[in-house]
Amino acid sequence: MKKRMLAVLLASVTACSLGGCAGKKKDTVRTVKIGLTLYDQYDTFISELVSWFNASASALEEETGTAINVEVVDAAGSQTTQNEQVKSLIEKGCDVICVNLVDRTEPTTITDMAEKNDVPIIFFNRELVAEDLERWEKLYYVGADAFGSGIIEGELAAETFQSDPKYDKNGDGICQYVVLEGEAGHQDAIVRTEYSVNTLVEKGVKAEKLGYAIANWKRAQAQTKMTTLLEEYGERIELILANNDDMALGAIDALKVSELPKDEWPIIVGIDGTDVGLGAIKNGEMAGTAYNDKEGQAEAMLKLAFVLSGKDAKNGLSIDDIPLEKEKYVRLPYYRVTLDNVEEYIKKSKRKQDEGQLLTTEESEKE
Ligand code: BGC
Repeated sequence: MKKRMLAVLLASVTACSLGGCAGKKKDTVRTVKIGLTLYDQYDTFISELVSWFNASASALEEETGTAINVEVVDAAGSQTTQNEQVKSLIEKGCDVICVNLVDRTEPTTITDMAEKNDVPIIFFNRELVAEDLERWEKLYYVGADAFGSGIIEGELAAETFQSDPKYDKNGDGICQYVVLEGEAGHQDAIVRTEYSVNTLVEKGVKAEKLGYAIANWKRAQAQTKMTTLLEEYGERIELILANNDDMALGAIDALKVSELPKDEWPIIVGIDGTDVGLGAIKNGEMAGTAYNDKEGQAEAMLKLAFVLSGKDAKNGLSIDDIPLEKEKYVRLPYYRVTLDNVEEYIKKSKRKQDEGQLLTTEESEKE
């Protein structure tokens, strides 16, 4: 599944890099050019968000009669590369650039270039500090309410732990847990860890932290780190709080190769609701997740970019259609997903892939 998704994203990136993006209507006078630079195109959540951005661009073209050309580039973890990419996207005439910052403390080179050339920037997913966003009026941020994700994760963990005495494996009335954390310094990693644990306790669960590991959002790293945690704490672990689904899945990979029988696995909760994450809820490996609304974020970012370009042929969309806070931020909520409602999210995701596929593979290359 992951390979298929990557293939889709790469097809999109290639098509776009060659300049053949979503511009379906060659005869339309106006073309909105949007550049996107990603901190890492192999990040599962980001690749799913970009797929939906491309699909939504196609739909918006139909709706508005304005051609939309999207160019996606991958900074592959280098801020220097990303700065160069923004420079080149400006030179290519992008109306707006969406930046998934590699280093959220280093937006200055990008914002200076953008201001000098009067190209608005929409930062997304990796939030810069408020002062940096204030540096110029045409800087925006689209993301999610990180606190909400931690709270939902803590609630899901508490509800599951309290639902059956079997989860308190040693019967001591205390939930022994470990945390798998995302990148150090990422706003979501810091906030999710703090709020998930606090909520677990607020919901009446006595909790004891056995250990934690930083696995940088990555499934493979989480598997390695979880293997070490299992060697150290073994069956004492009753709960795994993962900062995202990919790391929860890495923990599951480690459990599968451990000697622990499945009915003795700890409770595992994640955040994101990626396609594979939803599958793991459906098959009972994960207790739940906080759905990170990538569709909503992609659509908000696209609409904002479209409005900021000032090229809407019908003038149908305005800045008032974007739910902006403090005139700069779009922050969307998270949603609870458990076995009870996972099918609903799987359906949404399936529809998304079918529509995304239309735009991001062969069709877009033919344009
Ligand atoms: C997502 C992670 C992702 C990270 C990338 C987070 O909001 O939950 O899955 O790896 O953003 O910046």
